[in-house]
Amino acid sequence: MLIDRFGRRITYLRISVTDRCNLRCVYCLPASGVEWIAREEILRVEEIAEVVRVGVALGLTRVRLTGGEPLVREGVVELVRLLSAIPQLEDLSLTTNGVLLARRAEALARAGLRRANISLDTLLANRFSRITRFGSIGDVRAGIEAALDAGLHPVKLNVVVMRGVNDDEIVELGRLAVDRPLHVRFIELMPIGDYFARERLVPSEEILARLSALGELRPFDGPVGCGPARAYTWAGARGSVGIIGAVTQAFCARCNRLRLTATGQLRPCLDQESAVDLLPALRPAVDRERLAHLIRDAVAAKPEQHTMAQREVGSPRLCMAGVGG
Ligand code: 5AD
Ligand code: SF4
Repeated sequence: MLIDRFGRRITYLRISVTDRCNLRCVYCLPASGVEWIAREEILRVEEIAEVVRVGVALGLTRVRLTGGEPLVREGVVELVRLLSAIPQLEDLSLTTNGVLLARRAEALARAGLRRANISLDTLLANRFSRITRFGSIGDVRAGIEAALDAGLHPVKLNVVVMRGVNDDEIVELGRLAVDRPLHVRFIELMPIGDYFARERLVPSEEILARLSALGELRPFDGPVGCGPARAYTWAGARGSVGIIGAVTQAFCARCNRLRLTATGQLRPCLDQESAVDLLPALRPAVDRERLAHLIRDAVAAKPEQHTMAQREVGSPRLCMAGVGG
């Protein structure tokens, strides 16, 4: 078992499989983009699988693949196949912007993917292109349908709420969970990069109050639980809504996760630059014992809580891409 200094059991690994992305969302990447990391520095699929095998033997039970955009990574279907073959791994999920999902959902499901989180910050085509800088909303809508058709379950939609940008759509986005088996997760804008401004942050209580316009909310605990979201539904609704109050309602006390960056850095906390470098245990040859030690080191280095709530401006780190989506 992996238990940190504060008694938290660490069971969840969020893996960034690439720093690259086919979009450039305003809250994540600068307009000019960032310089992509050279391919040889990115962990190979088999190296990632090795980290997971060792982590699972130590007590990890859940893995999420993220990016950048994980579906631009060659070999992502192969990675899903390798990971889903690990018997003790109970949960394997994917966070994607959905652009390439229509093409890949079926193959991913066949390779063993169970569920997916798809980013969708707006239902308006023009606004979508503005937020993602060049994405096209039709691709994502098709990706959502493909995920449902492929039997991925649950399909969650991630909405980053930004005041003056998309907060007028909270109710319309929430309504998606009424008619379809979709689970909409509203995420507080986190202070990452230049885009963040305190005024843009819509606190979770306010998001919840707006969702009440669709009827009385009742707590929801379906198969979707476990994560940091507080989830609700309405009588007769097919899906659920949830709020991830990453900033105003830090869920650090219940934090159960580590992050692996695309280059093999194991980060104890999403808000912290420091990391344990796994590369020496992977190259030139895999050393499983050393890998286990390094994973334990990262668990031991987990801070008690992050400090995002105190921050007035975004942390200098440019983006979520490569950090772990
Ligand atoms: N604040 C909140 N969520 C963010 N994401 C990326 N950047 C931020 C931010 N600054 C989310 C995306 C997506 C996932 C990859 O991370 O919306 O759901
Ligand atoms: Fe947008 Fe995700 Fe790409 Fe960042 S990594 S630009 S949030 S799609």
